[in-house]
Amino acid sequence: APIESPDLSTCKKSTVADPDGNIVTIEPTCCPPYSDKIVDFFPSTPSRIRVRPAVQNMTNDQIAKYKEATKRMRALDKEDPRSFYQQAMVHCAYCNNAYDQVGVIPEQPLQIHNGWLFFPFHRWYLYFYEKILGKLIDDEDFVMPFWNYDDPAGMTLPAIFDDPTSSLYDPIRNQEHRGSTIVDLNFGTPAETTDTELIQLNLDLMYRQMVTNSKTPKQFFGEKYVTGDTPNPGAGSVEGLPHSPIHVWVGSEPSPETPFRENMGNFYSAGRDPIFYCHHMNVDRLWNVWKDISPRNRDPRRPEFLEANFLFYDENAQLVRVKVKDCLNSSLLGYRYDSVPIAWMEKTP
Ligand code: C2O
Repeated sequence: APIESPDLSTCKKSTVADPDGNIVTIEPTCCPPYSDKIVDFFPSTPSRIRVRPAVQNMTNDQIAKYKEATKRMRALDKEDPRSFYQQAMVHCAYCNNAYDQVGVIPEQPLQIHNGWLFFPFHRWYLYFYEKILGKLIDDEDFVMPFWNYDDPAGMTLPAIFDDPTSSLYDPIRNQEHRGSTIVDLNFGTPAETTDTELIQLNLDLMYRQMVTNSKTPKQFFGEKYVTGDTPNPGAGSVEGLPHSPIHVWVGSEPSPETPFRENMGNFYSAGRDPIFYCHHMNVDRLWNVWKDISPRNRDPRRPEFLEANFLFYDENAQLVRVKVKDCLNSSLLGYRYDSVPIAWMEKTP
């Protein structure tokens, strides 16, 4: 049977394993405000398609709106499920053992990473996050940007996130990875690598992950994950690289204040950095790009995938149950990604 939406009434404290394997409880709880009024998402044809831009190509107007909307989201009451605080907690709850899979005895945690729910879960998460931001500035056409790190034009920390006076800033990032430092999509490349070499290594990695290592849906999405399964059956190509290294590259080095590479370097805290959502916009875009590469690149068709469902609060603070099958075509959700040059695609293996 498909993974079912969690039972919010049984949400418990989240946990994280420290480097020695000890289980640490996260304080306070990551559980969302409770509601038992759940509506089912009803697919409808959108009246227009919003175009999400590459972060390096945003207009001044788009940047100003994004900063203002994020500022307002940060200013919401912590108990409001639409607040930045609670939005960050969504990730912690779905990824750090706050929920058990419904109807499974003995209990088995719900984990949306390292398996085929990775792409659809994050797509829905971003969908509502973007809707909430739009509502806060009363702009139905609001769009968020994607961090275009798969192309040389986007291979640094985007400047709009690096302004300490802006709502998009996070003080606990790796301070070495600011300014013109080239992102390492395979975090751990030797320090003596030149920028030119690193850019080429990044492009090679993108081609490998999007083409060579993603010839089948299973390779791209990761392993099947259904009710009763042990979490983390196996990540797909892109979830592994470059998705995970970007988290670690942005987050702090381990220290007494940041033992888990906060914020970006751990599931429980990643959503506290606004760049998390911009990173995942690109992951989401890469899903669309992959499907356009070949007619064989298709979404899984098994009902256990299509019927899997999650819960999110929408822009009106209404709890909504969404199904994987309703997010597979992003234009039916009312958005697409701006087309930008894809340098890695031109590569021959
Ligand atoms: Cu839910 Cu980038 O992780």
